[in-house]
Amino acid sequence: MRTIFPTNTFPKDMHQYLLGTITPRPIAFISTINNEGTNNLAPFSYFNAISSNPPILVFSVNRKPDGSKKDTLLNIENTGECVVNMVNSGIANQMVLSSVSYDSNVDEFAKSGLTPVKSETINAFGVKEAYVRFECELDRVIHFGDFGGASSLVICNVKCIQIADKVFDDNGKIDPVKLDNIGRLGRAYYLKMTKGNVFTIPHIKTKTPLGFDSLPKSITNSKFLTGNLISKIAGLEKLPLKEEVEEYKSLLDKFDTEIVQQIAAAEINNNQIYEAAKLLMVVEYFAKEK
Ligand SMILES: Cc1cc2nc3c(=O)[nH]c(=O)nc-3n(C[C@H](O)[C@H](O)[C@H](O)COP(=O)(O)O)c2cc1C
Repeated sequence: MRTIFPTNTFPKDMHQYLLGTITPRPIAFISTINNEGTNNLAPFSYFNAISSNPPILVFSVNRKPDGSKKDTLLNIENTGECVVNMVNSGIANQMVLSSVSYDSNVDEFAKSGLTPVKSETINAFGVKEAYVRFECELDRVIHFGDFGGASSLVICNVKCIQIADKVFDDNGKIDPVKLDNIGRLGRAYYLKMTKGNVFTIPHIKTKTPLGFDSLPKSITNSKFLTGNLISKIAGLEKLPLKEEVEEYKSLLDKFDTEIVQQIAAAEINNNQIYEAAKLLMVVEYFAKEK
């Protein structure tokens, strides 16, 4: 392990440690309007939702090297509003193009070729090409300094959400692959939601799952069972009793315990969790007797 202390690390290196390790981050593509009525658009990946009731989004804006505020922060402080647009992979490069530090009188919608669209509840325009737009009012800003790189946390109340019909599945639920949000990784890396890399972990339905600490060592120490596989057994409410697995006892005449554990691992992968637990408990109850 590398041990890193902020006190003896250059801020620019610390920035990269945080950007590179806290990943993937969603990107808030923020549109605002300045005093002269010019649209402003810029991405911010220090961003998340922090409350559903009331709905609150936060993002943070770093100071420029000379300590001055970026246009996004100035505009939000002036007007008290912004649109948080989500970035789909189809507008990823345009998002990066908009992140260049243009003068405050430059409209980044025009620079990046994106289309401003009127909002329902606020004056700031949204990005038409975004599949999700949060129309927000400023709650408050918390400043962590006024020197170069210091950040200001912008806390926003969501007034209205616009979501494209195309991102919903047949059951009316949001489909992460259709939503196509990109994630920011460190440096120039980004993540795309493809069918192959999105996976599901069903909710644990048992009220009082066993947990790892209630499993026998023959399961938790098995070299064929990863933490992910053991978690499925640990999610059960109880382990099969000796009499329930008696019928499998003869397996141990044909196969050694390692093979039985490998078959159990395959059963877990097939979502046959209780069956797998039975096999593992055959080993636990009867292997020592052999
Ligand atoms: C994907 C991405 C994420 C970014 N995240 C942040 C961030 O979280 N905070 C920040 O201060 N700047 C961030 N930036 C840089 C700003 O977008 C950039 O400084 C921009 O010019 C600010 O524009 P403005 O002056 O119009 O507000 C990010 C840039 C990119 C490309």
